[in-house]
Amino acid sequence: MDLASYIRDIEDFPKAGVIFKDITPLLSDPKALNKACDVLCGFAGHMHVDKVVGVDSRGFIFAPLLASRLGAGFVPVRKSGKLPHTTISESYELEYGSEILEIHTDAIKKGEKVLVHDDVLATGGTANAVCKLIEKLGGEVVQCNFLIELTFLNGAEKLNGYQIEALLQY
Ligand code: PRP
Ligand code: MG
Repeated sequence: MDLASYIRDIEDFPKAGVIFKDITPLLSDPKALNKACDVLCGFAGHMHVDKVVGVDSRGFIFAPLLASRLGAGFVPVRKSGKLPHTTISESYELEYGSEILEIHTDAIKKGEKVLVHDDVLATGGTANAVCKLIEKLGGEVVQCNFLIELTFLNGAEKLNGYQIEALLQY
């Protein structure tokens, strides 16, 4: 099954000059959805995982599915002001300005093995901030996996030292 054929290019979204990789055709096809879960879980199949961290918002689609299959818990990292309990935060740079991500302080225990999942690896700023949050809580990032890696943006360089896996690369 060619999962790449379920990704749709949308030109000039969300702004002129950008080609957006739309994963909704993959999500809506039962076999493609299941196969994508199989491959993502396969990346981590050999390792023990205590928690899967998903990144607000598009990382929330697959992360709980992966957690359930891997026998791990799911932990949301959210954009600022959304989590109700005590949090720590990390800011990261965007093309224009910056963004803040937060995690509950009790979401990860010292020494826990953590898998990070997001839909897309672009510049790596988001995933790098997520890894810092996990490490501040004493967790160990065992892998960062993505549906899509936009290799021309060199995000893997920013995640130097972490194991990176992606289902599709462009
Ligand atoms: C997108 C995407 C990744 C991030 C990747 O999220 O879902 O999380 O950008 O970019 P980076 O590698 O350059 O940091 P976005 O912040 O647009 O928000 P969303 O998931 O809520 O749509
Ligand atoms: Mg995102």
